[in-house]
Amino acid sequence: MALSADVLLKAAREYGTPLFVYDADLMLQRYRDLYDFISWPKLRIFYALKANYNVALLRTLQEAGAALDTVSPGEVQLAQRLGYTADRILYTANSMTDAEVREVQRTGVLMNIGELSRLEKFGREFPGSRVCVRFNPDVVDGETAKTATAGPATKFGILMQDVERVVAIAARYDLTVVGLHEHTGSGLTMEASVYQSMANLMSLATPERFPHLEFLDFGGGFKVPYRPDEKRVDYRAMGAEIARLFREFCGRYGRELEMRFEPGKCIVAECGHLVVEVNTLKDNRGRLIVGCNSGFPQLIRPMLYNAYHHIVNLSHPQGAPRTYDICGNICETGDRFAEQRVLPEIREGDLLDIENAGAYCYSMGGIYNLRPMPAEALVRDGRLSLVRRALSNAQMVEQLLSECV
Ligand code: LLP
Repeated sequence: MALSADVLLKAAREYGTPLFVYDADLMLQRYRDLYDFISWPKLRIFYALKANYNVALLRTLQEAGAALDTVSPGEVQLAQRLGYTADRILYTANSMTDAEVREVQRTGVLMNIGELSRLEKFGREFPGSRVCVRFNPDVVDGETAKTATAGPATKFGILMQDVERVVAIAARYDLTVVGLHEHTGSGLTMEASVYQSMANLMSLATPERFPHLEFLDFGGGFKVPYRPDEKRVDYRAMGAEIARLFREFCGRYGRELEMRFEPGKCIVAECGHLVVEVNTLKDNRGRLIVGCNSGFPQLIRPMLYNAYHHIVNLSHPQGAPRTYDICGNICETGDRFAEQRVLPEIREGDLLDIENAGAYCYSMGGIYNLRPMPAEALVRDGRLSLVRRALSNAQMVEQLLSECV
């Protein structure tokens, strides 16, 4: 991975553990790679900020000119406070409340609506508005069933068969449909899924139905390798095919539209590390159990999705290999970062690096068992700094009490 063991050990020494460390240089490279790989002049990347809302990372992307995909009024507020203007934000929440729609509509951020009933209510309250409409592309793919976002079993998007109903609602309320959107899933396992979802959305986007389109948004979902032996998708080849398909579509549509993607994982996953310290080691009749000073509320993907995160023994890399369960400090049996994982011999006090911890780790975190979330450090232009402090136990308790009425 990108950050060396030396940098991670130094970060742990300076700021303590558990600690998230992000490589902003790698994040920027992943972001820029997308523009390099998908050669479409009107390409725009909307980073899905739910993947990681670290303010230093968001500032870095802001300076690089990125736009954002947001899913809650809180995300919109944070984005605007960081200088992302309304034209650089898309709002793709689901199960929105009326109050939430009003709040976001006031900011000038474009709404992406994925339910007929919400579109109807939106039209009634804000006739004459610009809007984006989210369809379910009916392609089932994703790293796990929980992260497949399209097809018959999902709550997201309007069915393609209902496209004429969308057209009718738009006409009734004089809505200008400026964009169509789909998101197939996270960690798409097949390149064909990307092309098929694109084709399905493009098949709806006729000039007769939607004469005012400015963009098509094909969501996120670009897969990153989590296992050391996993092959990286050839995104250059994929980008060429994506551009070819879109060029053909624009020919049919009659205008060169903007192409949007809104990836989270492929921009930030690989840039993140969670460094933890080993507190306990026990031998349960031959099963070696490691206890660390972090747990699933701080990195839930293994427990929630059975996700593989590669783990490196930073402080004893030359140890003889042994097989371990790498557990956390939470009072639940499922609190494991890895099961039966072969690692160089682990000793109490060793520091472990849990890799690919940049996407959906801190951002899905919580304080279950009342352990504060870890601090976050950043490497930018090769320089290490602390960018977010952890709350102390006393501060966390104070905050809890202050919330009580
Ligand atoms: N656009 C929409 C509408 C989304 O719902 C998502 C992710 C994205 C874009 C970004 O997808 P990405 O490029 O990051 O795959 N917590 C799960 C992933 C959940 C993704 C939710 N939506 C995980 O840790 O794998």
